[in-house]
Amino acid sequence: MNSLTITRPDDWHLHLRDGALMASVLPHTAREFARAIVMPNLKPPVTTVALAAEYRQRILTALPEGSDFQPLMTLYLTSGLTPDEVVRARDSGFVQGVKLYPAGATTNSEAGVAGLDGVMPTLERMAEIGLPFLVHGEVTDPAVDVFDREAAFIECVMVPLLQRLPTLKVVFEHITTRQAAQFVLEAGDNVGATVTPQHLLMNRNALFQGGIRPHHYCLPVLKREEHRRALMTAVASGSRKFFLGTDSAPHAQHTKETACGCAGIYSAHAALAFYAEAFEAAGAPDKLEAFASFNGPDFYGLPRNTGTVTLVRESWAVPTSYPFGEHDVVPLRAGESLSWRLAGQ
Ligand code: DOR
Ligand code: ZN
Repeated sequence: MNSLTITRPDDWHLHLRDGALMASVLPHTAREFARAIVMPNLKPPVTTVALAAEYRQRILTALPEGSDFQPLMTLYLTSGLTPDEVVRARDSGFVQGVKLYPAGATTNSEAGVAGLDGVMPTLERMAEIGLPFLVHGEVTDPAVDVFDREAAFIECVMVPLLQRLPTLKVVFEHITTRQAAQFVLEAGDNVGATVTPQHLLMNRNALFQGGIRPHHYCLPVLKREEHRRALMTAVASGSRKFFLGTDSAPHAQHTKETACGCAGIYSAHAALAFYAEAFEAAGAPDKLEAFASFNGPDFYGLPRNTGTVTLVRESWAVPTSYPFGEHDVVPLRAGESLSWRLAGQ
């Protein structure tokens, strides 16, 4: 198999940042994807429909000439997000979900909520109107081992939440464990999950390959090989519950190569090539199209894209860095070669 043509895909989990940083990375996503769910963890976060409208406009303005890429916006869940605001979000037509960042779980999560009890009326309204709840699924208790935080979240938060609100649409974002894949498979149709390229292609050894590897550090952190295999099995099964979400999260090189480096892997420069590699390795290249182009819009209740993109088997070298505003970002597989390339690029 030397080429793969699929319906134009979408990225259901993306960090675009803002300003000059955004302008540097946006073309990578816009050339591969028709739409992307844009994460709201800016500083300050995108907490209202008005802020989401402004951010959306800044993205549209920064797009390369002629691009028809559509940003799908999200609101950052704070204790101040009211039930009325989520109705306004749904009515806006451009806000597609509300994102949970447990306070302290990850980059720019300080404004997040400590628990869900205080926001129940808002979540109840979201369940009523069908607005998806996008969940960073990790407990933040420092006593819980960092590699166990996702599995603990299922028991401590996800199960009780869905018992209380069984119809709430939930996207379990960037799942990393066997437990999460199993939970999503066994849950109702209102529960889906995004899977990143890094969690399909790497296990936690990649953090320590010949030395400490800050560019392989993201949250949730890479897990053991048994979990990577479980994710590969899940996406290769063809289940409609799993869809493409890169979690491409650019950080300036110097903020990762430092004594306390921040979390995030940049993958937008070659997102589809990474997924093609993963699906091929899983022996299921025929399942890539639904994962990348059908399952996401079907879950969100949005139309599937028309048109196609083609990947060709052609070796190319990933640059050691890309410009990122006035800094650089080190991409996934920097300086290495990839075996799939988007045709026409
Ligand atoms: O690795 C991550 N980076 N995980 C997140 O949850 C946030 C993201 C970011 O914004 O950099
Ligand atoms: Zn993310």
